[in-house]
Amino acid sequence: MTISATVEERLEGPDATRELGRRLACALAPASEGVVTLSGHLGAGKTTLVKGLAEGLGVATADDVTSPTFLRLVRYENASQRVQLVHVDAYRMRGEEDVFELGLDEDLAGGAVVAVEWPEMIEAALSSDILDVTLDHGDETYRTVHIAAGGPTSSAWLARLANAAVVEGRPTS
Ligand SMILES: Nc1ncnc2c1ncn2[C@@H]1O[C@H](COP(=O)(O)OP(=O)(O)OP(=O)(O)O)[C@@H](O)[C@H]1O
Ligand SMILES: [Mg+2]
Repeated sequence: MTISATVEERLEGPDATRELGRRLACALAPASEGVVTLSGHLGAGKTTLVKGLAEGLGVATADDVTSPTFLRLVRYENASQRVQLVHVDAYRMRGEEDVFELGLDEDLAGGAVVAVEWPEMIEAALSSDILDVTLDHGDETYRTVHIAAGGPTSSAWLARLANAAVVEGRPTS
């Protein structure tokens, strides 16, 4: 992957991880579409970040969002705002075969925000121009996050993220 931009931050507690998710949602504007991969070990905070992303997009509350380990994929939608979030947990996926079976190839092609936990399981289906968020355990009180953009569209997203204000999230409908 060609890395064209990177950002590093320290996240003090789960609320900071959620806030980063809300900022990511805010930085998507004007189009609510994009692919973000969430890398990091078990319990690194990947789902916590998706909770914030869902809040920021106004598609679900934080409590609604749980790890879709067995379902592999959950779609959240705010019909009035025409925003869709596809939350993927690829931990149990078997590569591109599952991507097609779940219709994820269409989501990845555009028109949705796609957040992928365990992206290495479906790497062949992912373009290089995506935002990768890697979470590393500090101790139980904090995480370090490293965000990398792999191409022009994701670099623009990352640049807007650096300037994005803290937001409360849109109302769900
Ligand atoms: N910045 C942070 N500092 C400390 N704890 C955090 C931080 N972010 C998230 N956590 C906590 O880490 C724990 C695991 O979070 P989460 O379920 O989001 O991880 P995950 O990476 O999705 O795990 P899995 O690999 O099982 O899918 C939760 O208790 C969450 O509150
Ligand atoms: Mg998870």
